[in-house]
Amino acid sequence: MTRTVPQYRRGFVFDAEAQQSAMDLMQRLVTLFQAGSTDLASAQMREPVSNYLDLQLWQREMAEIFYKLPVPVGLSAELPRAGDYKAVNVAGRSILLARGRDGGLNAMMNVCRHRSMQLVPDGCGSARRFTCLYHAWSYGIDGRLLGVQAEDTFGAVDRDEFSLLRLECGERAGLMFVGLTPGVAFDIDEWLGHLLPELETLGLADTVPFSTRYLEGPNWKVTADGYLESYHFASLHPNSVAQTDMSNLAAFDAYGPHMRNTFALKPLAIAAELPRDQWDPMECVGVTYWIFRAWRLPEDGATTSLCRSCCRVRNGARRSLSRRSWFGTRPRMRPNEPWHRPVRISSTTRFATRTMRHSNRCSARCRRWPANARSSDATNQRSSTSIGPSRD
Ligand code: FES
Ligand SMILES: [Fe+2]
Repeated sequence: MTRTVPQYRRGFVFDAEAQQSAMDLMQRLVTLFQAGSTDLASAQMREPVSNYLDLQLWQREMAEIFYKLPVPVGLSAELPRAGDYKAVNVAGRSILLARGRDGGLNAMMNVCRHRSMQLVPDGCGSARRFTCLYHAWSYGIDGRLLGVQAEDTFGAVDRDEFSLLRLECGERAGLMFVGLTPGVAFDIDEWLGHLLPELETLGLADTVPFSTRYLEGPNWKVTADGYLESYHFASLHPNSVAQTDMSNLAAFDAYGPHMRNTFALKPLAIAAELPRDQWDPMECVGVTYWIFRAWRLPEDGATTSLCRSCCRVRNGARRSLSRRSWFGTRPRMRPNEPWHRPVRISSTTRFATRTMRHSNRCSARCRRWPANARSSDATNQRSSTSIGPSRD
């Protein structure tokens, strides 16, 4: 039997404008490198410890940020076909995403309208309808109440009134956004603003999910802080990140509430000695996008990882649960071969090689994410720092 090994291609396909933009970004890093500097704030900033511990502030953050603003909850590529669904807890709320027959995205509270049982266990799958385990009420993939068990004895139930509570949602640049409070609407284009064209260049709609890891942590801002600078690379990650990235050298850009951190990769030191027409930004520039409030989206050309920090209260403390997912660019397959089967990938880059190790232990499209991810917190904590693209 002939085994097909798909050929992976790099994620970026630069057009002239994007190439110019990448070259300009690299020029900024080269200038900083030659000056022995990095992008700097105007002054030192002091952050009161209470901002990480104060319960009332935490509650305000939940109410004003997490429950009011659009939250990125995954990649559209996770739900490629009608009936594909994903049930996930986001900031303490259980939500259900499902791809409709018209190709649109449905987002609902994952809560049965009879007696508030969680309708679908956390995870991914494909379904024609969702049936509650408790008393077997069933709902369509658009959330509409379809069936009530023994309705002749239970009594008539209004289908409109007792369908799942819908959430505002939308998709842009291959990302799925949801508002976590029923009835709260948003305008994604306005929300993403000038960041949207940048996100669209990443080609996220053309990716394949490989795996997801969870990591328990302290207050969500502590987990976010760890990704905001390269100041710690050499001291904290001498054998991993500092092998590929320069320490304490980065460029920062703001896009309203969102931002872009651009780190310098080691080959930049060589490129700085070469004429500009020999530069390759793909080898020298590591771009990380932040979608407010805690979504980090690094892209290295062959793989993308998404890191999301959620708030939770555990044992009375304001804890967080970070979820990190790895995606790769879609393989070129031979005709009739399903793209979503488990595959070995060729190691076109160092990042792809790491992802290969990851994906070989993972079922296709990560249907069993929670089961894999929550097997052991201790295991997850170790592996979360040892596997995956370098900038963690
Ligand atoms: S709680 Fe879901 S059917 Fe009763
Ligand atoms: Fe780090």
